[in-house]
Amino acid sequence: MLYLQNIVFKFRLFIKRVKQRKGIILAGGKGSRLYPLTLALSKQLMPIYDKPMIYYPVSTLMLANIKEILVITTKRDIDSFKKLLGDGNNWGVNFSYKIQDEPKGIAEAFLIGKEFINNSPSALILGDNLFHGAELIEKLCKAEKNKGATIFLYPVKDPKRYGIAEFDNNQKVVSIIEKPTKPKSKYAVTGLYFYDEKVVNFAESITPSKRGELEITDINQLYLSDNNLTAEILSRGSAWLDTGTFDSLSEAGTYIQTLEKRQGLKIGCPEEIAWNKGWISDNDLEKLSFKYPNSEYSTYLKKLPFNEY
Ligand code: DAU
Repeated sequence: MLYLQNIVFKFRLFIKRVKQRKGIILAGGKGSRLYPLTLALSKQLMPIYDKPMIYYPVSTLMLANIKEILVITTKRDIDSFKKLLGDGNNWGVNFSYKIQDEPKGIAEAFLIGKEFINNSPSALILGDNLFHGAELIEKLCKAEKNKGATIFLYPVKDPKRYGIAEFDNNQKVVSIIEKPTKPKSKYAVTGLYFYDEKVVNFAESITPSKRGELEITDINQLYLSDNNLTAEILSRGSAWLDTGTFDSLSEAGTYIQTLEKRQGLKIGCPEEIAWNKGWISDNDLEKLSFKYPNSEYSTYLKKLPFNEY
């Protein structure tokens, strides 16, 4: 009997180990702060310099070695996302799609994505969040190994707009307050979250806030109360940009343009990441370049295997 129990235990442990982290990109919402830009087109499909906004969060998940990705968006926009991203096979990943009927909160992603997650660990990224910087890959790999939840903090000038972390004297996070009127620090919780398989249960246990949303901050608070939350601070040398206003949208485009022009290297290029990781071959990359004929993007992809960058 004991022998059998031992085998069952080891088997469960094995299953747990091989369960790959799944990724969710939340790309819904009305984008009303960007009207009239978003009256007919999803915010997350708007250009950030030379590519659609969603290429950036896709790239971040790919850099974290996440290959199973669920895109959650509106009924109006789902077909456009499918047209743009397809099934992901070309990039060595797998995209699936679900609709969020109304923007009822970021944490609703885990209710919509429950079947997709299927008791695996997951990572959620907001479709309008852009991360860049040398330390990013290292931080993502670290988060992949952490237990419980990992959030990423970034110093901001206008903390009242975000979920804000409060620290004790030992620099340990003791609370997170959503859009505080009196912020206890300038460290905002960014729109990238890593969770263990408990996140769906937590999402099922919370109720809508005063603004009528299932708050991601409430989920982070639950992990914090369980003493199971790691907060990684992104240093000032890295960039976290959100794109919710006309100014931030345009600034994000300028940021990417400036760096890409200076270095001749692309930021947030999913084809390049897939190729670098060996998920697609030189041949596949060449075929992909034909998807964008006559564009500078296509030339970039064609040249990659020849080390011209
Ligand atoms: O940007 C980081 C901040 O994102 C965090 O610091 C906050 O803790 C978190 O609550 C969130 O802040 P906002 O409430 O300002 O997020 P917003 O409503 O602007 O939504 C962020 C993106 O997620 C936006 O592109 C639309 C999308 N979204 C949002 C909601 C509420 C959805 O697709 N569905 C939703 O139900």
